[in-house]
Amino acid sequence: NNTFPTLFVGQNLIRLPEVDSTNNFLKAIVSNSEPLAEGTVIMADKQFAGRGQQENTWYSEPGMNLTFSIYLSPLFLPITSQFLLNMAVSVGVRDAINDFLGGGLKVKWPNDLYYNDQKLGGILIENILSGSKYKAGIVGIGINVNQLNFDPMLLNRPISMGKILQRDVNLLELLAKICTHIEAQYLRLRSGNFNSLQNSYLSGLYRFKEKASYRRLGEVFEGTIIDVTEQGLLVMLSNGIEKHYNFKEVEFLNN
Ligand code: BTN
Repeated sequence: NNTFPTLFVGQNLIRLPEVDSTNNFLKAIVSNSEPLAEGTVIMADKQFAGRGQQENTWYSEPGMNLTFSIYLSPLFLPITSQFLLNMAVSVGVRDAINDFLGGGLKVKWPNDLYYNDQKLGGILIENILSGSKYKAGIVGIGINVNQLNFDPMLLNRPISMGKILQRDVNLLELLAKICTHIEAQYLRLRSGNFNSLQNSYLSGLYRFKEKASYRRLGEVFEGTIIDVTEQGLLVMLSNGIEKHYNFKEVEFLNN
């Protein structure tokens, strides 16, 4: 009952007025092995226990923004290459939002959405494995769309599309665009075109090939991001030495 120009992503759209977290809701369905069409989207007008990465909470002003989760089932993906799903999703969301903004949105490793030095949204993908195989990817996406006021105490200096564009953005129009772009990237992933996907991810990566300051275990150092692996490791060049970092092992500092 919607008109998204996609094959499957967003064709089954469930809109809830209120839920704890769309990721939790979707995970419960998938864990019960209830039949569910791939590409199903659970969208909520209000989440009262939205979750971010690293056990953070994701707060979003009710009715103003997009908070949704997509059910994908990348059974074709070796679990050692799990991060390729993050790449496909981040590239899709980035491209969709840039269609509205005219550019400027980047992915901050691993999958934050940044406009200049401000956070516009985030992605939380929860992989459900069955033995050593992929069962499902619960792809949670939160985007600041029309919210104009943010808690000044937040460290990542949030921003919204509405603040940038100085106008409201229609939530369903944006969702349709995001579903379209994610589907395109997901199909690219499914066709095994890993290199081109990785290149797209890197080409719009925040601070890619730029020398900047980072911190690890309390120690500040200068480094340049030169790659991100299929496993999601950040590859950095620092003082002529190549180093690989795991998620959240390294902190981005503002220069
Ligand atoms: C982050 O930047 O830390 C990731 C934020 C992800 C938030 C989205 S909102 C929809 C989905 N449901 C959740 O509880 N979290 C994700």
